[in-house]
Amino acid sequence: MKFLVIFAVVISLTIVQCQDVNEVQLPIEATVCKREDPKRNDCFKNVIQKIIPALKDGVPKLNITSIDPLPLLHAKFLYRASSTLLASLTVVRGFAYGFSESQIRRVRSQITDDEWKFNVDVTIPRLHMDGEYMGQGKFNELNLGSQGYFNLTLNRVQTTWKIRAKAEERDGETYMRVFKFEMIPNVKSVRTFIENLVPDPTLNLVVLELINRILEHSSQ
Ligand SMILES: *[C@@H]1O[C@H](CO)[C@@H](O)[C@H](O)[C@H]1NC(C)=O
Ligand SMILES: *[C@@H]1O[C@H](CO)[C@@H](O)[C@H](O)[C@H]1NC(C)=O
Repeated sequence: MKFLVIFAVVISLTIVQCQDVNEVQLPIEATVCKREDPKRNDCFKNVIQKIIPALKDGVPKLNITSIDPLPLLHAKFLYRASSTLLASLTVVRGFAYGFSESQIRRVRSQITDDEWKFNVDVTIPRLHMDGEYMGQGKFNELNLGSQGYFNLTLNRVQTTWKIRAKAEERDGETYMRVFKFEMIPNVKSVRTFIENLVPDPTLNLVVLELINRILEHSSQ
């Protein structure tokens, strides 16, 4: 059985390319990766690995949001398991915990003057998310959906971050704006709680138990 929790986050943040050292300093030692360097992907790998814990609380001056907890804006979850379960949840307000523990395995990059594309293979020991959702779906013949509290725990996540950034001129300086951040995780175990999937709370627990069993079974 094939199962996927498709999780697409769109984060909008700005990274300053031409840093004025007197004004803002990233809380790490600056490393420059050269575009022509044949080992540039290893360079990016080291930089990203160093940046992650440093960005844990964000860099307010650069408008970089905290990554742990990471505010989930417009995040969407798609729960799908064969024809039994299909549900789509949009996070109205929520947070993800655990990104600062990410281990970078490999980086692939395509760099041009006005666009950066990175595919970053990552392992995350544990990701926990919670918040408020709105959603809909079907479980067997049962219609699911409405809104309420949810949480989702993913253990031993293997994933690829797809990061896309575009050059942007502002006040005579060039910035790289990250306009896309996507990941489709492959997980070893999943556990979720979703309030109000069905109106009756007792039935909701039964449906959830079945969903968790399907997720657990199909994620191994
Ligand atoms: C940071 O965000 C604030 C408020 O959203 C905005 O006024 C400011 O221009 C932003 N700064 C940068 C460098 O993007
Ligand atoms: C998810 O929410 C349910 C219901 O509030 C709670 O019992 C459970 O402990 C939560 N899971 C985690 C991992 O926090």
